[in-house]
Amino acid sequence: MALHFSSACLCSLSQRRVQKIRAVASVSSVTEEDKVKLGGSDLKVTKLGIGAWSWGDTSYWNNFEWDDKKLKAAKTAFDASIDCGITFIDTAEVYGSRFSFGAINSETLLGGFIKERKERDPEAEVSVATKFAALPWRLGRQSVLAALKDSLARLELSSVDLYQLHWPGIWGNEGYIDGLGDAVEQGLVKAVGVSNYSEKRLRNAYKQLKKRGIPLASNQVNYSLIYRLPEKNGVKAACDELGVTLIAYSPIAQGALTGKYTPENPPTGPRGQIYTPEYLTKLQPLINRIKEIGESYSKTSTQVVLNWLIAQENVVPIPGAKNAEQAKEFAGALGWRLTQQEVDELRSLASDLKPITDELFCFLLSVMYKVNF
Ligand SMILES: NC(=O)c1ccc[n+]([C@@H]2O[C@H](COP(=O)([O-])OP(=O)(O)OC[C@H]3O[C@@H](n4cnc5c(N)ncnc54)[C@H](OP(=O)(O)O)[C@@H]3O)[C@@H](O)[C@H]2O)c1
Repeated sequence: MALHFSSACLCSLSQRRVQKIRAVASVSSVTEEDKVKLGGSDLKVTKLGIGAWSWGDTSYWNNFEWDDKKLKAAKTAFDASIDCGITFIDTAEVYGSRFSFGAINSETLLGGFIKERKERDPEAEVSVATKFAALPWRLGRQSVLAALKDSLARLELSSVDLYQLHWPGIWGNEGYIDGLGDAVEQGLVKAVGVSNYSEKRLRNAYKQLKKRGIPLASNQVNYSLIYRLPEKNGVKAACDELGVTLIAYSPIAQGALTGKYTPENPPTGPRGQIYTPEYLTKLQPLINRIKEIGESYSKTSTQVVLNWLIAQENVVPIPGAKNAEQAKEFAGALGWRLTQQEVDELRSLASDLKPITDELFCFLLSVMYKVNF
């Protein structure tokens, strides 16, 4: 089982402890108590989901290549996740699409995985979240319904659980929100949300939907121990006040918080532009403390940083899984809790680091999607 411990870490742990942590990492412990209602909607999802951006993607992930091996690994990630009881899966119409220079649309892959799973396990529970790309030439509420129907066709589903606006449009946002409301009223989705919305946009979207008696269920934003902008820009506080769930994307900082990347072994591809050897050097004291805390609970670093996010309350992290091992490990983030002292200590250690800038993320995403945020 690849748990991505660095060799230094492996040396410092006794064999017994490693075995214990490995066992915990693969425990299927998700229960009804590990589910939450998404905002004010009736949709109940696991307190942690998984992200499917990397499935079929060749623009940011997978070293710009997609092959059968990666496809099989993505399928095992899906199955392992469902086996562990993590049933909330996040995708988007742009992931893996030709539009974002991908190999296969992530929705198409997910649709195939669900179909195959349901054939041999008809009772299997899967909650699908997908997203509308607010492209400048898409105007009006009809564009949301049209894109949703295309997503449903790729997913081979008659409805999805959560439909989100992937990012605010340059214009036409009121029309998009109307489109979300129409999707609920037409029974095409159970709940609706937004993504990458500022506090002001979030409040406006919430108000507009409320007039129709429809709750805004979620706002999906970048949030991790080392990217805490939502705590500073009013988004987390507004989500808590309005009863909108904050869905945390990139919750393990694209692998940087797992401890597997070091100054000597930085990530390749676009991630290498963000998590440079210099940045990873500064990150080490935090990584070391995360590891130590994890050892005291027989948990991996990945499980600690996901548990830290869940401890913020009203937060559902959606880490990306490329294979079964990664997906299984996520499940071990549920069913236990860091102490408040540990939560505070980790935030304080992380505060010593210069935050990764939003501009860099937006630049990389805008290059990918050819849009401006
Ligand atoms: N709404 C938006 O604008 C937006 C933006 C970004 C992401 N998202 C969503 O959020 C999801 C998650 O975000 P993300 O994929 O950017 O970042 P992430 O979840 O922080 O990191 C995922 C990556 O970390 C590595 N990893 C995963 N599990 C690991 C483990 N147990 N040990 C070591 N490394 C592990 C994998 O890459 P390697 O194995 O290659 O290291 C994986 O692809 C996406 O899939 C997507 O659904 C949404």
